[in-house]
Amino acid sequence: MEEERIVDNSLQKDDELLELSLRPQTLKQYIGQSKVKEELAIYITAAKTRQEALDHVLLYGPPGLGKTTLAKVIANEMAVGFKTTSGPAIEKPGDLVAVLNELEPGDVLFIDEIHRLPRVAEEVLYSAMEDFYVDIMVGQGPTAHPVRFPLPPFTLVGATTRAGMLAKPLRDRFGIVSHLSYYTESDLTTILMRSATIFNTQLMTAGAHELARRSRGTPRIANRLLKRVRDYAEVKGNGIVDQEVAMTALALLGVDSVGLDQVDQKLLHAIIELYHGGPVGLSTIAVNISEETETVEDMYEPYLIQLGFLKRTARGRMATAKAYAHLGLPFTEAEE
Ligand SMILES: Nc1ncnc2c1ncn2[C@@H]1O[C@H](COP(=O)(O)OP(=O)(O)OP(=O)(O)O)[C@@H](O)[C@H]1O
Ligand SMILES: [Mg+2]
Repeated sequence: MEEERIVDNSLQKDDELLELSLRPQTLKQYIGQSKVKEELAIYITAAKTRQEALDHVLLYGPPGLGKTTLAKVIANEMAVGFKTTSGPAIEKPGDLVAVLNELEPGDVLFIDEIHRLPRVAEEVLYSAMEDFYVDIMVGQGPTAHPVRFPLPPFTLVGATTRAGMLAKPLRDRFGIVSHLSYYTESDLTTILMRSATIFNTQLMTAGAHELARRSRGTPRIANRLLKRVRDYAEVKGNGIVDQEVAMTALALLGVDSVGLDQVDQKLLHAIIELYHGGPVGLSTIAVNISEETETVEDMYEPYLIQLGFLKRTARGRMATAKAYAHLGLPFTEAEE
């Protein structure tokens, strides 16, 4: 798709600076996800008291919910170094060995999109995670033999949008598995108020609620919408973001009352109007909105399902009565 989606929850070019300035540094500053934080706080305190590295942590959940942020917070709370790489950046086992070789005792090694690590590289992690060593093949042909290299104790923090795609041996090596879920409207309001302070923008409570309602449960989207609405308020108004300014600016951005944009609407319209509400296969939906199936599955569906607009059945996706009502269309019961 040529046009950039304002409600896209993946990291975009202009997000990087924004994210740096807004990123919470400590568990206390990290808003929401209380169950995850509570557990981590206990394990972190215990590991620090024993002066050990924290057990390996797997963070999973939809994009933009704060996995990278939380990994950095863990390193800060443990007062250790933070090194980072990602599944797609590692092409061969040697790339991973080079990263592991840089680790200092206790460090957090963050591997983003860990489900995209090539299988041969993944296998290097098994011994590294379990017993802190790697075997490297030295020499060639008949004289080739493995040499064992010890590693300092470290904490692997893996992030993935799809825990189901991790190989079992890898998954089993994480002592702590935390699932990040969509943020509540109230948590998003708090995040928005904090961001507004950092931006030096006057955000009224009703304006914050309006933004929170349309942010798809996702802090990254909340911050991005705030940035655009702030621009609008500065150019068209007096710089203050109240509910009216928020509503007008969001309408201009094509974000509807529950946070859907034109692509989401097109997706629902396709299921309803072309396929009588479904069931319809994922790849058919993807073709209709000119997207990759993976994008539809990771970026569009989770929020539509969360809203109760879409359901997954054995025979395909179906639009619910709630989706018809939201789009103002008459509902006719489809057969599953
Ligand atoms: N709990 C939180 N409290 C306050 N702000 C948050 C929180 N979680 C995330 N954010 C904000 O949302 C932005 C996105 O978070 P982050 O980059 O960590 O998401 P992510 O889950 O790693 O996303 P991706 O899967 O796309 O890599 C951060 O810059 C941060 O400002
Ligand atoms: Mg990230």
